Parts: sequence; structure tokens; C-alpha cells
Amino acid sequence: MRVLVIHGPNLNLLGDREPEIYGTQSLDDVNDLIETSADDLGLKVTCAQYNGEGQIVDALHGARSTADAVVINPGAYAHYSYAIADAIKSIGIPTIEVHLSNIHARDEFRRTSVTAAACLGTVCGFGPQSYVLALHAAAKILRK
Ligand code: DQA
Repeated sequence: MRVLVIHGPNLNLLGDREPEIYGTQSLDDVNDLIETSADDLGLKVTCAQYNGEGQIVDALHGARSTADAVVINPGAYAHYSYAIADAIKSIGIPTIEVHLSNIHARDEFRRTSVTAAACLGTVCGFGPQSYVLALHAAAKILRK
């Protein structure tokens, strides 16, 4: 049960970036939490971060041969990237969208996610625990 976790743009700055919204944990801290949780769930996880839209599309294509499920935080691309939405639909791998913040309680433009519609479901608003909850969902889907 292999899970690819993709972090999108600006998430490399976690810990420094708007800590009042995204918290003080670095991306390495979040990845440690993801790896520990994946171990507990019997998942083999790989974490990657990309700032570029095309890099994320390429990573999704690559997942066809390397992953059984994808957990993705598309960052701001969630709100307008039809290319990433199409890539998620194209690969035929169960994909779960994650956001650290509650995108529905923020700016108007964040309330829409065009990529979420291509995913099985979304977890948002629980900080780094959003990823842990998504891994639980992935484990449940893959065990079926
Ligand atoms: C985010 C929410 C997005 O609106 C924002 O652009 C991000 C982070 C989140 O995890 O809360 O970069 O995806």
C-alpha cells in the first residue's frame, strides 16, 4: 500500500510562512508526522514538495507506476488549476485533497477548489493532522 504525498507551492516555507494561519511546524516536521502515521497504518509513504504546476502534473503522472493512492495539498493551485484537476482524473488512482487551513472560512477565492472535484474527498482545517486523517482514509480505501 504505497501512498504518494504531494505538497504544493509555498509549503516548503511552512513554519515561517504566516504562522498564525499555517502553524509553526516546518515541512520536515509535517513529513515526520506523516511518516510516523503511515508506519502505524502499514502504509509505505513518499513525500515530495513542488512549487511548479507542471512539476505537480508530472509527479501525478509518475504515481501511475509508483503509488496506490495519492494525498495532495495543491496549495493555491487548488483554486484554479484545471491542469492538476485533469491530471488527477487521468491517473485513475484514488486521490485525497488536504489543506492545513479551513479554506471555507477564509478569503472568498479560497472557498472553491477545482481540484477537490477530481478527488475522492477532502480534509481541511486540522493543520498537520489533516494529512494524518487523509492517510487513515487512504488506508481504509486500499484495504477494501
Ligand atoms: C493551503 C490553502 C491554500 O488556499 C493556500 O494557497 C496554501 C495552503 C492550506 O494548506 O491551507 O498555499 O493549501
